[in-house]
Amino acid sequence: MTDQAVPAARDEARTAPRTFETDTHQSFLAWRRFFWAKAASILILVSAALYGWHHPIPVPNGGTWLGYGLGTIAALLIFWLTWFGWRKRSYSRAGRVQGYLSAHVYLGLSLIVVATLHTGFQFGWNVHTLAYALMMLVIASGLFGVITYVRYPTLMTENRRGMTTQQFLSRIATLDGEARQVAMSLSDEIAQVVAQASQETRVGGSVWRQLSGRDPNCATAAALGCVQDLVRNLPPELAANGRALLVLLSQKVEFLRRMRRDIQYKAIMDIWLYVHVPMTFALLAALTAHIVSVFFYF
Ligand code: HEM
Ligand code: HEM
Repeated sequence: MTDQAVPAARDEARTAPRTFETDTHQSFLAWRRFFWAKAASILILVSAALYGWHHPIPVPNGGTWLGYGLGTIAALLIFWLTWFGWRKRSYSRAGRVQGYLSAHVYLGLSLIVVATLHTGFQFGWNVHTLAYALMMLVIASGLFGVITYVRYPTLMTENRRGMTTQQFLSRIATLDGEARQVAMSLSDEIAQVVAQASQETRVGGSVWRQLSGRDPNCATAAALGCVQDLVRNLPPELAANGRALLVLLSQKVEFLRRMRRDIQYKAIMDIWLYVHVPMTFALLAALTAHIVSVFFYF
């Protein structure tokens, strides 16, 4: 690995997507014995019961008293979820963040029922249905996010096996240095292959590269294949060094593989926010248009 490649890899690792606070991963769904899950269930049941009991003429829709009631609750929830989604960043206590997230997730999910009943299942190609579709997109991306928060921290811990990003990088750099040293003692051709792999060692990169968790053009993996062929032709006195080089390159390939996977996990834990947050703003705009337009025409 070259001197330029090490800081480059370090920079990419530093700018890797942010992760969520580790201690909030596990327990926010069960916060205070599923307090918010119960609260959201009550909201869903009461809304469904009222909807079943209510028989407006001609059909259920957003314009009945229940329609207005459910619409108002849904809109208030959306504004609250947005506001507290934002405020959460300033909360310092882990317990408070957990409570917030728990409420955010369960009340957010309850919107699927509350807002749908508000519409009376009257959908069309209009701004009202656009607001509804955007809300569903925000909810679906949020659900994806929660699944990653529950699943990925464990996978990350297993993959890292106690190592930090810094330790990964220095281990790769050490293996790289050792491989270059051993390669120089073997032959010019091998030394050149290993030096080139060193110069072209990269982790991170484009969003797609990070999300894939692989590099099909990994220079070290290619070098390993090449060196495997070349060491066969070495004189017997260099065979031991040849084998040592293969071990070093294999270890480097393995560390690179684990580091790319680590970056992949972080990228997946972040990517959904690129839907969740912008779609929240689109939703707020469409919802405002919906509310203004119904007050205009009713
Ligand atoms: C203060 C909050 C709200 C008020 C006052 C309100 C009001 C209304 C009214 C009066 C209607 C009947 C319109 C008609 O029959 O043409 C309606 C329908 C509808 N609302 Fe709302 N709404 C609110 C919140 C929401 C929310 C949060 C959503 C979803 C994100 C939503 C989605 C819809 C949809 C999809 C319809 C059906 C439109 C159609 O008939 O084609 N509304 N709303
Ligand atoms: C229409 C409903 C929703 C709105 C308007 C909304 C809005 C937001 C906003 C504005 C944030 C702050 C993002 C940031 O920190 O940059 C956020 C965070 C979050 N949302 Fe939602 N959300 C909704 C529903 C949901 C649902 C249903 C779930 C899960 C099932 C969910 C899961 C999350 C999670 C896990 C975060 C925390 C992200 C983090 O700080 O790392 N959201 N949401």
